[in-house]
Amino acid sequence: MLVRGLTWTPLGARTPVLADVDLRLEPGERVLLTGPSGGGKSTLLRALAGVLDAAESGEATGEVRVGGETPLGGGAALLLQDPGAGQVAETVGRDIAFGMENRAVPRTAIWPRVRSLVGRVGLSVGQEHRVAALSGGESQRVGLAGSLASADGLLLLDEPTSMLDPDAAARVRDSVADAVADRALTLVLAEHRLDGWLPLVDRLVVVAAGRMVADLPVRGGGLDAHAPGPDSAADLVRDLTSWGVWLPGVPEPTPWPVAADVCAPHSRALVDASAWSGSRASARERETSSPFAGGAALLRVKDVAVARDRPRRGAVASVVHCRVEADLVAGQVQAVLGASGVGKSTLLAALAGLRRPVGGVVEALPPLAREASTHPHRWTSRQVATRVGYVPQRPQASVIGGTCRASLLATARALGRDAERRGDALMEQLGLGAVADRSPYRLSGGEARRLALATAVVHGPDLLLLDEPTVGQDRDAWAAVAGVIEAAARAGVAVVAATHDDLLADLAARRIVLTRGADA
Ligand SMILES: Nc1ncnc2c1ncn2[C@@H]1O[C@H](COP(=O)(O)OP(=O)(O)OP(=O)(O)O)[C@@H](O)[C@H]1O
Ligand SMILES: [Mg+2]
Repeated sequence: MLVRGLTWTPLGARTPVLADVDLRLEPGERVLLTGPSGGGKSTLLRALAGVLDAAESGEATGEVRVGGETPLGGGAALLLQDPGAGQVAETVGRDIAFGMENRAVPRTAIWPRVRSLVGRVGLSVGQEHRVAALSGGESQRVGLAGSLASADGLLLLDEPTSMLDPDAAARVRDSVADAVADRALTLVLAEHRLDGWLPLVDRLVVVAAGRMVADLPVRGGGLDAHAPGPDSAADLVRDLTSWGVWLPGVPEPTPWPVAADVCAPHSRALVDASAWSGSRASARERETSSPFAGGAALLRVKDVAVARDRPRRGAVASVVHCRVEADLVAGQVQAVLGASGVGKSTLLAALAGLRRPVGGVVEALPPLAREASTHPHRWTSRQVATRVGYVPQRPQASVIGGTCRASLLATARALGRDAERRGDALMEQLGLGAVADRSPYRLSGGEARRLALATAVVHGPDLLLLDEPTVGQDRDAWAAVAGVIEAAARAGVAVVAATHDDLLADLAARRIVLTRGADA
């Protein structure tokens, strides 16, 4: 594979997303692609797969050749960063088979391979399971199984373990290693956290601001410090760290200081007496609102059960049981942990009032319920928006409007809250200043998730529910995200984060660990 002078500028943009990239890969080489969020990794993978032109409008110069030819799309197996974006079929089995069917793999060979891959990537759902009902991490593994099944020559993986727990991630790395070895595949894999992957690759390529800034040999699972290039190993580590690369053995990042006032709950302003004059709040609302600084309990949760699926006629709905007993407290961060598929996102959706529990307790306590019902699922959408900020696992789901700024401020505007100054400060903190006036539909994976966090906080909710908020972030972006989360807690927001990220869980005052029960 040969890339020469590749430059790609999206339609209407002034600066290229990829600038003069040169890369040569021998058959069977394995490359780890890393670099800051928004640096151009996913765009480069799309170019290598030959799908950049088909998917997006832009202008390309330079050349990409795979096996001496221009890739036309469909040649390489590409696992997209957003696994949901690549799903085409209704059931797990058919989705995994799709790539092989397109390559005219004989039917008799397809189904045994599907079965074996379901096991290899560690999926516990059956082939008949509906793709729409998969958890984020399950969906990522279905996508991976599909890519591994059809890969023949070039395998391109965009952050394939970002939504997995450590065990599932290790299993996925093994399945990638096996497929690459068995079929002598050439591998290019984008990732921020290098630790588990370094033993599998022989090169580390760093892309920042669209340029290839480093191309380093990897030997025996570590960077080869004797390689020609930067002067010393210390310089190398410093340079890589400055590009946001998470190197194993380097001290972990710490949250950046973020001013609490940009994250403060709007309801706190309401309890300030002056804010009441002229407001149309009811007497009950005044009575029950209390200052949150003292750590008031806002929401009580106990053993929540949520129907997994809308049942077919006559069928019994399968139910997700979340064994948990907790009060969500103003000013506190709590982490929800547990294996991929155990029900973390389902629990968050129930806490947000987005899903009706069929058992257990989700009770809004007076400081949160105020004039509304104590059952969050009975809240109107306005009542939800007033109280809750929510970052869905697929951040693209919270995007609306023509620019990132418009998307960010949509909820605040609908609620009549003036949040422009906070919005600008949050975007600046989260490294989104440069994309504020761009389309929110063309962001990188990490950027989209940071925008979703800013969007969830900016209108001043009391409760912040974050579904894997640090996925896909480089070191610096992680520090910014963690900084905003800490600032929100300091400002009196009750924060709940579902996560596989130990570093984030370490910031939590409390861990809620979900386990798969016999009846789950
Ligand atoms: N079609 C497009 N139109 C406009 N901008 C784009 C387009 N595609 C990508 N970009 C921008 O180009 C930059 C690189 O995006 P890309 O998705 O390649 O980054 P990345 O390195 O994969 O980041 P992450 O680590 O966050 O996934 C980002 O700032 C993104 O917003
Ligand atoms: Mg990306």
